[in-house]
Amino acid sequence: MKTALITGVTGQDGSFLSEFLLEKGYDVHGVIRRSSTDFRERIAHLEGHERFHLHFADLGDSMSIVQVVQKVHPDEIYNLAAQSHVQVSFDSPEYTAEVDAVGVLRILEAVRLCGLSGSCRIYQASTSELFGKVEEVPQNEKTPFHPYSPYAVAKLYGFWIVKEYREAYNMFCCSGILFNHESERRGETFVTRKITLAAARIAAGKQEKLYLGNLSSLRDWGYARDYVECMWLILQQPGPDDYVIATGEQHSVREFCLLAFKHAGIDLVFEGEGENEKGIDKKTGKVLVEVSPDFYRPTDVVNLWGDPSKARNELGWNPGKTSFEELVKIMVEADIAKVAVERAGENVSLNLAEYLERGIVK
Ligand code: NAP
Ligand code: GDD
Repeated sequence: MKTALITGVTGQDGSFLSEFLLEKGYDVHGVIRRSSTDFRERIAHLEGHERFHLHFADLGDSMSIVQVVQKVHPDEIYNLAAQSHVQVSFDSPEYTAEVDAVGVLRILEAVRLCGLSGSCRIYQASTSELFGKVEEVPQNEKTPFHPYSPYAVAKLYGFWIVKEYREAYNMFCCSGILFNHESERRGETFVTRKITLAAARIAAGKQEKLYLGNLSSLRDWGYARDYVECMWLILQQPGPDDYVIATGEQHSVREFCLLAFKHAGIDLVFEGEGENEKGIDKKTGKVLVEVSPDFYRPTDVVNLWGDPSKARNELGWNPGKTSFEELVKIMVEADIAKVAVERAGENVSLNLAEYLERGIVK
C-alpha cells in the first residue's frame, strides 16, 4: 500500500484527489490548517475512513511541514496548498509569495531533511497563469512564461525551485501546469462557480442580479475530477517531468454565462459594450447580468488556451473526457439542488463572498 501526503486537502482539488487515491488503495494523509472553526465541507464525507488521516501544518511554517513529513514518511507528496485566488494576490502579495513560492521550497527541504529525497515523489500544483500575458496561442510546455499577477509570479518561483531540486539533487519532483479546472466544489468567488450559483439563485427568485468583471476573458476550462488523475499519472512515470494539462478548447466568460443561465432555464442575450454591457432575460427583458469594474484586475490574463498533446501522448490521458457543455451542466445542476434546500436568507453567503472578492470586508 502506498502512502500519499496531500497539502491543500480541504480545497477543490484536494478533495477529489483524496477520493481518487483512496479508490486506488492508498493510505491518504491530508494537511489541514489550525483554525477557530471546524468547517471542512469538501472532505467531511471522507473523515472516518480508515485510510484517511489528517494532520495540522501550515505552508508558512517550516517546522510543521518537517514534522508531518517525518511522521507520515510519504511515498508521494501532492503539494496543492496555496493562496489560489488571483484577485486576492493583488491585495495580499506578500502572503501569497510566502505560501505559493517559499511554501514549495519548504516542502522540498522537508523531504531532504527527512532523508526521503531518493524515495519520495513530489507533485507541485503549477498553473497556466505562468503564461499570463501570453506570448503564443495555444500554450504548451515550450511556451515562454510571462506571469501577470503576484499569484503567478509566486507560482513561477514554485515551478523553478521544483526544476532546480530535480536537477541539483536528482529528486523526483514534477510540476503539472494545469489550466483552469472547475466543478460543483469550486470556491464561490471563482468566476464559473459565481455564475452557476447566481444562475440557480436568480432562477429560483433568490437573487436579483449578477455582477461580473471582464466578460471577454478567455479560458480553457476542464472538470477538476478529470484533472486529479493527471496529478497521479505524472508521478507514475519512469522519470520526472512537467506537463501542460488542459482540454484544448477555449471559451469566454460571456459564453459560460449564456450556457449556465440556459441550463437554469433562462435565455440571456448580451447587449452593449465594456462597462455598459448587460445580460438581459429574452423573455422578461429584465437585466440579470451587469459589469462592475470592482471585478477588473490591475493586470488580467485574458487568453489562456492549452495544448495537452504531451499529456495525451505520454500520460495516455484523455483531455476530452468531460465536455465544456457537460461541465457547465454538472455545476448548474448541483447549484440548483443546493439552492433548493437553502432557507430564506441563507443566500447571504453569496453576498458575503462577493463583498470579500470586492475587498469590502477584509
Ligand atoms: P483551493 O480550493 O483554493 O484550495 C486551496 C487549499 O490550500 C485549501 O485546502 C487551503 O486550506 C490550502 N491552503 C491555503 N493556504 C495554506 C497554508 N498556508 N498552509 C496550508 N494549506 C493552505 O484551490 P484548488 O482550486 O483546489 O487548487 C489546488 C492547487 O492547484 C492550488 O495550488 C492552485 O493554486 C493550483 N491550481 C488550481 C487551478 C484551478 O483551476 N483550480 C489551476 C491551476 C493551478 P483552507 O481550506 O484552510 O483554506
Ligand atoms: N473571479 C472572478 N470574478 N473573475 C472574473 C469575474 C468575476 O466577477 N468577472 C470576470 N472574471 C474573469 C477574471 O478577470 C479572469 O480573467 C477570469 O474571469 C477567470 O477568473 P477566475 O475564475 O477567478 O480564475 P483565474 O483564471 O484568475 O484563476 C484560476 O485559474 C488559475 C489557472 O489558470 C485559479 O484557480 C488559479 O488558482 C489557477 O492557477
